[in-house]
Amino acid sequence: MPTKCRLLVKNASQVVVICNNGEKYLTKNAMQNLCVVENGSVVIGCDGVIKAVGPADAIQAQYSEDLFEKVIDATGMCVIPGLVDAHTHPVWAGDRVHEFAMKLAGATYMDVHRAGGGIHFTVERTRAAAASDLLASLTAKLGRMLRTGTTLVECKSGYGLELDTEVRMLEVIEAARYSLPINISSTYCGAHAVPRGKTVAEATQDILQVQLPALRRRMSSGELRVDNIDVFCERGVFDLDATRAILQAGKDMGLQINFHGDELHPMNSAQLGAELGALAISHLEEVTAEGIAAMATAKTAAVLLPTTAYILRLPQPRARDMLEAGVIVALGSDFNPNAYCCSMPLVMHLACVNMRLSMPEALAAATINAAYALGRSHTHGSLEVGKHGDLVLLNCRRWEHLIYQLGGHQELIRCVAIKGNVV
Ligand code: NIG
Ligand code: FE
Repeated sequence: MPTKCRLLVKNASQVVVICNNGEKYLTKNAMQNLCVVENGSVVIGCDGVIKAVGPADAIQAQYSEDLFEKVIDATGMCVIPGLVDAHTHPVWAGDRVHEFAMKLAGATYMDVHRAGGGIHFTVERTRAAAASDLLASLTAKLGRMLRTGTTLVECKSGYGLELDTEVRMLEVIEAARYSLPINISSTYCGAHAVPRGKTVAEATQDILQVQLPALRRRMSSGELRVDNIDVFCERGVFDLDATRAILQAGKDMGLQINFHGDELHPMNSAQLGAELGALAISHLEEVTAEGIAAMATAKTAAVLLPTTAYILRLPQPRARDMLEAGVIVALGSDFNPNAYCCSMPLVMHLACVNMRLSMPEALAAATINAAYALGRSHTHGSLEVGKHGDLVLLNCRRWEHLIYQLGGHQELIRCVAIKGNVV
C-alpha cells in the first residue's frame, strides 16, 4: 500500500513554480521568464516536502486522490510559492505614530533619530518590556504576515543595544520559531544604533567583547539559534571600520552577513559587503556604480525595501541598474516602527511602481531571491520537487492579481500552506 501524501492542490489555472532547475537565485533574464504551469497540480508528501508539480492530467494519472490526507480543488485559482520577506524588525514595544506626524511635517529620519526619537525611542520601550509581552506582540505581527502570504521571514533583534535585551529579543524570536508555523531566519542586530551616552568605539567594543562572546556561548550550548549578523552602516551610526570589525567577528562565529548599507549616504557599504562575502545588503538607495558591480561579482543579494524609500521619501534605489549589472535583487518589507507594513504583496506593488520592476521580477525577488538572501534557497523560494511544501493559493485566474491589486490581499489569498499543512 503506497504511503499517504499530505496535500494535493489540483487543477489550478496557474502554478507559478518560479524556476525548476535547482537555481539558487535568479538574475534579470530568468526573473523575466518565470516557470509557470498552466492548469497544474502540486503534490506534497507526508514529510511536508514537494513530491510532484506539473500538468493536472499528468499528476492525476500518477496519483490516486485517496492517497491524500487533504485535496484542494483549485479550479479558477493560482498557486504560488510562499512569499519570503528578507528584512524585518518585528520585536519591539511601543509604536511611533507620533513620529509619522513629524515626518509628514518635514522632519527627516536622522532629524528624529538625533533628537532622541526613532530607534532610541523604541529601544527605551523594548528594554522595559517583558519577554511575554514581546512574544505576544511578535506572534500577532507574524500572524498578519502569514495571512498576506509570507511563509519565511527574517527577524532582527536591535532594539536592545545591550546584551540582556538583545538576548531577550533573540530568545523571543527563538520561541516564535518553535510555537508558530512560519519559518524564521534570525538576525543579531546589536549594532542597529549607537546607544545614547556611548561613542561608536565604545559601542563597537561592547559588541565585540561582551555581546558577541555571550551569544557565541549560547549558540554553542544550543540554547539559542542565530542565523545572521547585521549592522546599520551609516554616517552618524556605525562607520565603515566599525561595521567591518563587527561583521567579520560575526562571520568568524559562523553567522551569515546580512546588513543595512548605503541607505542615506553613500558609505561604500556594498564594496565592504562584497569584500567580506556578505550574503545580502539591504536598502542601497545611495549605492554607487562601483558598489553595484562589486555586489554582482560577489553574488551578494541586494535586499530592496520599497516601504522605507516610500515613507521617508528617499530617492529610489536603482533597481534597474542593479538588474542590468547582474545583481541578485530581493525584496523585504522592512517591517519596523518606522515602516509599519507586514504585506509582501504591497511591497511587490511598490517595487513595481516606484522601482520599475516588472511583476515577474518582483515575484522572483520576493521568493527565490529573498530565500537566497537568507541562505535558504535550497529549501524555499520555488515550487520544486524536494523543497518545502510552502505555498499560497490565490482566488484569481492569473497570479499577477496579487501585485496588481493595491490592498485587499486577505480576500485574494484563499489559503496559505506550510509544509503542506493549511495554516
Ligand atoms: O531598516 N535603517 C535602520 N533600521 C531600520 C529602521 C528601524 C527604526 O527606525 O526603528 C530600517 O529602516
Ligand atoms: Fe531595517
